Amino acid sequence: MTNNKRVVTYALPYANGMLHLGHIMGMVQVDCYVRSLRMQNIDVTFVCGDDAHGTPIMLNAMKQGISPEQLIGQFYKEHVQDVRGFAISFDGYHTTHSMLNTQIVHQVYHRLNQGNMIVQKSIQQAYDVDQEMFLPDRYIKGECPKCGAQDQYGDHCEVCGKTYAIKDLKSPVSIMSNTSPVWKESLHDFFRLSSEQGSVEQWLSGSDIQESVKNKLGEWFVEGLQDWDITRDAPYFGIEIPNQPNKYFYVWLDAPFGYLSALGATLGLAEPQAIFDVWNDLNIEHFIGKDIVCFHGVFWPAVLKKAGLKAPSKLHVHGFLTLAGDKMSKSRGRFVSTRDYLAKLPADMLRYYFASRLSTTVADVDLDWQDFVLKVNADLVGKLANIGSRSQGFVHKYHEGCLGSRVDEDFWQTLISRHEEIMASYQAVNLAQVCRLVMELCDETNQYVDHHKPWVLAKEGDQEQLLLVATTALAAFRYLVYLLAPIIPNTAEKVAEAMGESQPVLQLDPFVGMKVNKFGHLLSRVVKEDVAFE
Ligand code: 2FM
Ligand code: ZN
Repeated sequence: MTNNKRVVTYALPYANGMLHLGHIMGMVQVDCYVRSLRMQNIDVTFVCGDDAHGTPIMLNAMKQGISPEQLIGQFYKEHVQDVRGFAISFDGYHTTHSMLNTQIVHQVYHRLNQGNMIVQKSIQQAYDVDQEMFLPDRYIKGECPKCGAQDQYGDHCEVCGKTYAIKDLKSPVSIMSNTSPVWKESLHDFFRLSSEQGSVEQWLSGSDIQESVKNKLGEWFVEGLQDWDITRDAPYFGIEIPNQPNKYFYVWLDAPFGYLSALGATLGLAEPQAIFDVWNDLNIEHFIGKDIVCFHGVFWPAVLKKAGLKAPSKLHVHGFLTLAGDKMSKSRGRFVSTRDYLAKLPADMLRYYFASRLSTTVADVDLDWQDFVLKVNADLVGKLANIGSRSQGFVHKYHEGCLGSRVDEDFWQTLISRHEEIMASYQAVNLAQVCRLVMELCDETNQYVDHHKPWVLAKEGDQEQLLLVATTALAAFRYLVYLLAPIIPNTAEKVAEAMGESQPVLQLDPFVGMKVNKFGHLLSRVVKEDVAFE
């Protein structure tokens, strides 16, 4: 490892639909992690972008009577707005449909050819004569060869759950034209993945990846890795393969190189070689959902290695988001859009809710709006914001907003005693633990205030003790909010502003002797009308 600089990425969303709260959950997870790194002065470049190629995008544009470029352009704008709305702090948000990404992929392809890693094989594929296109498996339906169920997809049956080869599907029909496909020969490039099993296994054992994900990836090695088809025939919306008319790279070959082009665009590097040099000098950390583990954990490290590029040192995988126990589905009305949410509630609340539910496992996270109301009201409003609102009044009423010159040292030492543990939880991407630990400290702070009863001290005129207790509580409040700044950045900024600071800077010394402004209402209680989305 050359240095501790990092590039951290989040899986590129398809430019084929709006972002949903599942995307936001994944982005919040990695954003909290990245913000915690920045808080510790670790040099990190955080990038993402749109995954803009592939058959579904091409067909969706056709259906709407617009060009694929127009379609991806529209979604790009929406995605950028959503990302901003939820305060996801990407340093750059790029797209795979760019000259830079094309140049990178072409350069990589050249290197793979030089290294004798590409082999050509002739394959037979289903072809729709009417539409004049080869058909991906999911564009063919027919009768399940195992149980006879009708109307099943080309490669698996939703009735009996079996998978099969497309050639075994009975009475196949193209969903594009309702005609039966014919079999047609085509010459494809394959990446020689079969020769890379040893190196991928070695990479896997030395990388920072959740154990359950490693085990899942291990299943791929039992049967042995097969060479990987990286060609798609025209018509296709993607990157052309040099010197092969009507052939394109499969979207899953060009998409992850979007991480490199996003890095290059962010750092202002225009040449693939310059980007490769920077990439090879960084620690690479990918955050992804559990459905795309094999692309990132098998194909990707093998391709990188054979292209002379560094493989990731960390893969962090999250589960899906469900809504009150069900998979999110637009068609079944189980869908809350990012816009609907932001029109009603602050981003920080959902960020906190997600964080409080995200530990290091790949378990799905359920968003139950009743539970959301309880959690946000109990933790953010009832525990955290309460400390600030109950202590600032005394400082303003009796001391013109000036904090005392010291805090209660015993209490302060207890408060900061778990600092390392909290930072380690961020580092382990155990956000649920961060929330739990900080809430314990909030409880202790509230108990401290309850115990010292500043309202009684005020009544008795014990100004010295009152100032000590109020200063201690307000300094604790500032510390606790800043500890959570990676999770609730907007709230933390408001508090910093009131404290006369340009941004939240986490420090272990108590904040004393300063004149502070009043912060207005930081977070209001959520009521059930706020979450009446459906
Ligand atoms: O599954 C998806 O949503 C893909 N668009 C993720 C791509 S991640 C990376 F490889 F680009
Ligand atoms: Zn079946």
